[in-house]
Amino acid sequence: MDLFEYQARDLFESYGVPVLAGIVADTPEEARAAAAKIGGTVVVKAQVKAGGRGKAGGVKVVHNPEDAATAAEAILKLTIKGLPVHKVMVAAGAKIAQEFYFSVLLDRANRSYLSLCSVEGGMEIEELAVERPDALARVEVIPGEGIDLDKARAIAKAGHFPDELIEKVAPVIVKLYDVYKGEDATLVEVNPLVLTEDGQILALDGKVSLDENADFRHPNHAELEDAAAADPLEAKAKALNLNYVKLDGQVGIIGNGAGLVMSTLDVVAYAGEKYGGVKPANFLDIGGGASAEVMANGLGVILGDDQVKSVFVNVFGGITACDAVANGIVGALAKLGDASTKPLVVRLDGNKVDEGRKILEDANNPLVTLALTMDEGADKAAELASK
Ligand SMILES: Nc1ncnc2c1ncn2[C@@H]1O[C@H](COP(=O)(O)OP(=O)(O)O)[C@@H](O)[C@H]1O
Ligand SMILES: [Mg+2]
Repeated sequence: MDLFEYQARDLFESYGVPVLAGIVADTPEEARAAAAKIGGTVVVKAQVKAGGRGKAGGVKVVHNPEDAATAAEAILKLTIKGLPVHKVMVAAGAKIAQEFYFSVLLDRANRSYLSLCSVEGGMEIEELAVERPDALARVEVIPGEGIDLDKARAIAKAGHFPDELIEKVAPVIVKLYDVYKGEDATLVEVNPLVLTEDGQILALDGKVSLDENADFRHPNHAELEDAAAADPLEAKAKALNLNYVKLDGQVGIIGNGAGLVMSTLDVVAYAGEKYGGVKPANFLDIGGGASAEVMANGLGVILGDDQVKSVFVNVFGGITACDAVANGIVGALAKLGDASTKPLVVRLDGNKVDEGRKILEDANNPLVTLALTMDEGADKAAELASK
């Protein structure tokens, strides 16, 4: 999960990284009040999860609350890199002497962490990396060792910081690593990290990505989620603890086991070519040991997708026996009642397949078609979706 700049700023502050006052605002009036509270020169900054806001007109320096309101009004109408601006941050203005770059990130390819650092920050760091790769230091950070003061000095030195700046910047680098480690982040980036005219080091723009796999260690991360941007079906599925990903097609998919579900997506997409390019509408893995309730929840989410025209349930009974899955389907359809009008194709195989098929046959729901094989089921579901 990527954070907004203002959320990164707040995290930085809580770890003792030097930042300037910043207040988030949804309206020009709130921006005016924020500017009055901070006082003096402020910077009104678009809050979107994309870089290059400065170049896109999303960062404006103003000198009084009235101008802050005007700037916020203009910025709140912008769309930056396809993202509409819903919030601005009003930040205290810094007198910048020099701009630097620092980041630490998860280096998956090398199963390690990597720190990038340069005394030349501010501009698009991607350009610097391409045009003058020597100017951007790449220093491995051993996960078990992290970044202590000595390591921070070495990183700054590699980034061509002069000696007198190394001593100032190293403690800030240590604190930024504390954020990375402490919050289970996969990225902490500061661009620019600045030296002010009066000699302070400040993090002026922060980008943080958090590892959702570690959410269980950070209950407070839930409130950082951007509910406004989340797909409503994905949000509903998440609340029900389902492994669901919304896709763009017409055939709703439910299966057990990520591998089986992925192959089902392929098989349905392949079968769909015959029917004018019908495609899978989602990924949904109800997992091993899925209960009738999980099946019902899954069907509920999928049938709530307006794009879905048919559903393909493809289950290989292992720990989850087919009779439990069949009971789940029957129960779900009974619960949904008249709300469910979309045809279901069900392919069951494996543990207790005969019992499962019998339950569905006895229920005799006109919406349900049984398929013997995965290919047959995919074909039938694609055909039904094309009608
Ligand atoms: N609080 C601030 N005070 C003074 N200048 C700022 C402030 N915040 C940003 N800037 C200037 O605006 C530039 C772009 O802002 P930044 O927050 O880095 O946005 P982005 O990276 O999305 O363009 C910075 O490089 C810096 O020169
Ligand atoms: Mg920046």
